[in-house]
Amino acid sequence: MSLPLLLVEDLRVSLGNGRAAVRGLDFELRAGETLALIGESGSGKSMTALALMGLLPEAARARGRLLLAGEDLLKLNEAALCKQRGRRIALVPQEPLSALNPLQRVLHQVMLPLRMHGLTDGAEQRAREVLARVGLPESRWRAWPHELSGGQRQRVLIAQALACGPSLLIADEPTSALDPASQRQVLDLLAELGREQGLALLLISHDLGLVARRADRLLVMYGGRIMEQGLASELLSAPAHPYTQALLAARPGLATRGQVLPAIPGQVPAAGQWPRGCPFAGRCALGDQRCIDEAPPRALVGAHGSADCWRLQA
Ligand SMILES: Nc1ncnc2c1ncn2[C@@H]1O[C@H](COP(=O)(O)OP(=O)(O)O)[C@@H](O)[C@H]1O
Ligand SMILES: [Mg+2]
Repeated sequence: MSLPLLLVEDLRVSLGNGRAAVRGLDFELRAGETLALIGESGSGKSMTALALMGLLPEAARARGRLLLAGEDLLKLNEAALCKQRGRRIALVPQEPLSALNPLQRVLHQVMLPLRMHGLTDGAEQRAREVLARVGLPESRWRAWPHELSGGQRQRVLIAQALACGPSLLIADEPTSALDPASQRQVLDLLAELGREQGLALLLISHDLGLVARRADRLLVMYGGRIMEQGLASELLSAPAHPYTQALLAARPGLATRGQVLPAIPGQVPAAGQWPRGCPFAGRCALGDQRCIDEAPPRALVGAHGSADCWRLQA
């Protein structure tokens, strides 16, 4: 088996004042593979993405190892990171309107990353290619961002992310600003591009139901930790962790019209206010004092998965 393109080892992101957003994350991602990173808002998903991009907020610090093709991104200085960002690792952001320059036509925005990386020869041709590939009609290539629909703007951002031919693509809640039909189309496009171009795709979402079937593997995160991970097919048919089970039960798609949406009871604690043991202990229907006090052991689940939960102790 080939080496993973991305190997994340014991990633920790501190926010200052003893608070931490990510508290020991391990995962790997191979070329051509889609990994969905799932968890409620406040779980540390975006901090994980920003650590990979080298774009954490001022006060935040990342520790651990982020190996991209064997090179530790956390050891690179800003100049070296700039060379990787947009070229080998690209991010599709959450908010399509604020991420686009309102004063630049679509085609030129897509040429921007190519210019930034000195790939000026054939930049326009390349921009046209990726815009065609993401399915933006040619009549829109000279439009301004405000003339586009939300789905079209998100396609422009995907084209921009693809322009330099990255090997790792991170999409952080790429469809949260879109209507349900555009959401599905954009996610299908990302999954297709991942397969077709052999990208390693990290698909981040708070909505397990929306992304799960488009991913090869799922990583369920809460409180800056991995709760459960495994093959998407296995994890969906037999979720082992009470948190994954609660997320699945709370899927909006399962509620019929007029019914109250099931939600996981309780609030996501702020960073720095997690219990010492399992982050979910305070909200878990099955949790007891040991769950609050002691970090749970990792149990193997199915053929390829694991879950961190005291209830799964043999
Ligand atoms: N810019 C920031 N400065 C300080 N804390 C932040 C910042 N952004 C997010 N946080 C905190 O970090 C934790 C993880 O947030 P985040 O990674 O954005 O979660 P998610 O993307 O899963 O919703 C939360 O407690 C959040 O309040
Ligand atoms: Mg986020």
